Amino acid sequence: MKTLVLCNQKGGVGKSVVATLLAHHFAQRGRRVLAIDLDHQGNLSKPLRMSGRTTASAFTAAAVLTSHAPALPDKPFVLVPSDRALLSLERQPDLHTPFARNFRAFLARADAAFDVCVIDTNPNPDIRVIAALASADFVLSPIQLNQGAMDGVSGLLNHERVGLRKIRAVLNSKLSLIGLLPTMVEPADTVPEGELPADRPAVPPVDDQHWVGAGRLRVDPAPLVHIPANVTADSGIVTRHSGERDRVRCCAL
Ligand SMILES: Nc1ncnc2c1ncn2[C@@H]1O[C@H](COP(=O)(O)OP(=O)(O)OP(=O)(O)O)[C@@H](O)[C@H]1O
Ligand SMILES: [Mg+2]
Repeated sequence: MKTLVLCNQKGGVGKSVVATLLAHHFAQRGRRVLAIDLDHQGNLSKPLRMSGRTTASAFTAAAVLTSHAPALPDKPFVLVPSDRALLSLERQPDLHTPFARNFRAFLARADAAFDVCVIDTNPNPDIRVIAALASADFVLSPIQLNQGAMDGVSGLLNHERVGLRKIRAVLNSKLSLIGLLPTMVEPADTVPEGELPADRPAVPPVDDQHWVGAGRLRVDPAPLVHIPANVTADSGIVTRHSGERDRVRCCAL
């Protein structure tokens, strides 16, 4: 099983939408998908439940961190839904290490039953995000292409607690940053009103119903934004060009 975490400390950048689309996309391609919603807002759980395509586990995501969660349903597309108890985990610092261990052990037990695990996270840097990053293979960061969001990229990499460099150095050397995924990019001259873009979007659609809000997502040509100097191209998605301004390109999954 390959585990992918959607993560960005910026709120409202499209983490849950991309997680939803990717979960459907992998399932439609015949992969056995485990979706875990670590955000108490439940914005991955709601659309997956409403789709009628997933089987929800009997326990919620908080239980995965706080206990030895029981077995998952023997189904090809399973959701571990969010709950409000997720909010209380950060207030129990003495238990943070067991929380992260429980989460990793849960993923290890699920390993043989699923091909892909998609994890949606909350925007605040807390133990839920740390537990997810400490156990995952890959992280993908949706980002809106505006200057404020780009300036926040250094936090994603360098935050003292949940920065990817720190996580890789201390907790999970195998964690690989797939990259930044520009979302909600809509050049006025390329997207006719009310229509989907004609060429390939960053996240493939499942069908009309599950396109969610990403139908108007468009990445090429990307707007020009300035990339802070301490953001390197080692993620493979930020390609630098000479000159004062740089072009941001989408990564291929
Ligand atoms: N590509 C898109 N096109 C249009 N709207 C979008 C797109 N992606 C996301 N949205 C909308 O932007 C809002 C924020 O998206 P989403 O909830 O996925 O962000 P988030 O990063 O998960 O937020 P949070 O940090 O609060 O969890 C939602 O209303 C969503 O429908
Ligand atoms: Mg979200």
